[in-house]
Amino acid sequence: MNRVVNFAHRGASGYCPENTMEAFEHALQLGATGIETDVQLTKDGKLVLIHDENLKRTAGSDRMVQELTAKELRQLDAGSWFGEEFQGAHIPLLEELLDLASQNSVILNLELKNSMIPYDGMEELVIEAVRSRGLEEQVVISSFNHYSLVRCHQLAPEIRTGILYIEGLYRPWDYALSLGATALHAYSKAVQPEWVREAAVSGLVYHPWTVNQEEEMKSLLQAGVAGIITDYPDKLARLQGIHQV
Ligand code: G3P
Ligand code: MG
Repeated sequence: MNRVVNFAHRGASGYCPENTMEAFEHALQLGATGIETDVQLTKDGKLVLIHDENLKRTAGSDRMVQELTAKELRQLDAGSWFGEEFQGAHIPLLEELLDLASQNSVILNLELKNSMIPYDGMEELVIEAVRSRGLEEQVVISSFNHYSLVRCHQLAPEIRTGILYIEGLYRPWDYALSLGATALHAYSKAVQPEWVREAAVSGLVYHPWTVNQEEEMKSLLQAGVAGIITDYPDKLARLQGIHQV
């Protein structure tokens, strides 16, 4: 049970503004062994970590991420919306999180946010960044854009990929195998214990999201998932008995 990866969703987003270094660092303090984050591309071709394509909700500007340069994005306040004490938190570059991962053994779940906006060339940039730091084994790339996952797998078969999906895919392990993926990033309500077992026979693992209730965490651990994506990594760590808060 202790080997289940405790993925902090957008960092410890239950306690800190999502997708900030503050959220990532706090996640590690709370016992996360993985970090899920959302990757987008700036106007000047830099990889940044933010969930929405529009900046309004978390950074107070009614512009799109792709319309601003990394330098312009860095000047925005990505913390105040969550709490005054986080004022001045910035939108991180992927590089900053990779640096953090280089200093820890944390697994990174890099979700490419390229369904609404295709962000041409993003796959190459992500792979180059991961390879340049030798983090291939510490990374799983996920996306709702499965064409993009196939591209990642073709470019870097050594880096794991996970298909993101919400609703009832039939035998998703068969489908995932056909894409070269190794993980099923299923909406948590779309996971049945017998499917976890059947997927395992094909060598596929489940990383359900977003699981914030302890009862659901327990059921999924019992079912044999390989990772859980949660806003509250401390709750999962406590259940796993590897970290007391
Ligand atoms: O990666 C799991 C989850 O983050 C997918 O949905 O919208 O939170 O990025 P979303
Ligand atoms: Mg995400």
